[in-house]
Amino acid sequence: MLNNQDLSRCNTFGLPCVAQTLFRFEQVSQLPTLSAAIKEYAQHRVLGGGSNVITHPDLAGLTIHVANKGIRLLCEHDNFWLVEASAGEVWHDFVAYTLEQGWYGLENLALIPGTVGAAPVQNIGAYGLELEQRVHSVLAWNLLEGELYEFSAEECEFSYRDSMFKRAKPGTWLIIAVRFRLPRQWQPLLQYPDLRDHASLQHAPTAQAVFEAVCEVRRTKLPDPAQVGNAGSFFKNPVVQAEQYAVLRTQHPNVVAYAQADGRYKLAAGWLIDQAGWKGREAGAVAMHPRQALVMTNCGGAVLEDVLNLAQQIQNDVQQKFGVQLEQEPVLYA
Ligand code: EPU
Repeated sequence: MLNNQDLSRCNTFGLPCVAQTLFRFEQVSQLPTLSAAIKEYAQHRVLGGGSNVITHPDLAGLTIHVANKGIRLLCEHDNFWLVEASAGEVWHDFVAYTLEQGWYGLENLALIPGTVGAAPVQNIGAYGLELEQRVHSVLAWNLLEGELYEFSAEECEFSYRDSMFKRAKPGTWLIIAVRFRLPRQWQPLLQYPDLRDHASLQHAPTAQAVFEAVCEVRRTKLPDPAQVGNAGSFFKNPVVQAEQYAVLRTQHPNVVAYAQADGRYKLAAGWLIDQAGWKGREAGAVAMHPRQALVMTNCGGAVLEDVLNLAQQIQNDVQQKFGVQLEQEPVLYA
C-alpha cells in the first residue's frame, strides 16, 4: 500500500488526481489479501489505463491499480485460437502481439488506449468491430465476496459501450484476465467507410494491412493522449426510436444515423455536437477537438470542473437544438 500517490499521469485526460492509498495488483496470489484489505476502507475503485475516466482531484479510500501481465495461447481449436491476456496488459501492444503470432481478428481495434482488463467494461468498439465479437470469457474477482468467476461472453451482457461490469455496483469486480476466441478462418472486416475506401485495402488485404490502416485513420482523426489529454469519445452515440429519427430527419435532412437491428437509429453524436457549434470550441481549459467534435481535450491545466461544465453546456445545447439527450461515456472517479 502506498499513500498519497499522484495519478495525474495515470489518467489520459491529465486531470490533477491524488490517490489517498494505492494498491498495485500484479498477481493472482494477492487477491485474498486485497479483498480482506478493502474492508478497512470506506470506498475503493479499480483503475486500469485511466483512458476512459475523469477523476476527482482527491481519491479517498483505496485505489487498485491493475498491473498483472501475461499472454498465452490456451488451446487451438479447429475453428479458433483461444488466447488469454492478463488485465494489466496494454491493449494496443496485445493486439500487435496477436498479429505477430498469426492470431488475427483484433486488428480493427488497434490503437485504442487503455488496458486489456478495461476493454470488456465498456465493450470497446471501432471500425466495424466490437470487443464482444471476439470475447470467449472474462475472469473476474469479486472484491466484495473474495471469489473468482469466469463469465461467458453472454453472461457479460455486452451492448454498445456497455456490459454488466459497467452497470455493477462500482468496486465489485476486478477483471483479472480476458479470454479471446480468434478465428482461424480470418476474413477482413471492411464495412466501415474509412476502411472500405482505404487505398491500401482494395485487393485481398492482410490483417497487418488492416491494422496499419486503422492506426493511420485513428492518428489522422483522433488526438494522441500522450500529446493532448483526452478520454476518447466523451459521449455515446445516442440511440433513438424510429419515430424520433423520422422527425429529426425532416428538420435536419443531413443528420448522420445508422439503422440498428432492433429498428432504432444510432445518431452520430459528433455530428450533433458539430452542428450545435462546438467543434474546435474552447471553454475554460478544455475544448472539443477540431477534427472530431466528440472528443473533449485538455488544453492544459484543466480541472474536473472545466470538464463537467463543458459537458453540461453541450448536453444542454444538443437537447435544445435536437431534443436528444447525450450520455457521458467516460466514468467519473470520485
Ligand atoms: N461527424 C461530424 N463531425 C464531427 C465528428 C463526426 O459530422 O466532428 C460525423 C461524420 O459524418 C461521421 C460520423 O459523424 O461520418 C461518425 O463519425 P466517426 O466515423 O468519426 O465515428 P464516431 O461515431 O464519431 C465512433 C466511436 C469511436 C470509434 C469510431 C470509429 C463512439 C462513442 N465512438 O465514433 O470510438 O473510434 O466510431 O469506429 O461510439 C471511443 O469510444 O473513445 C472512440 C473513439
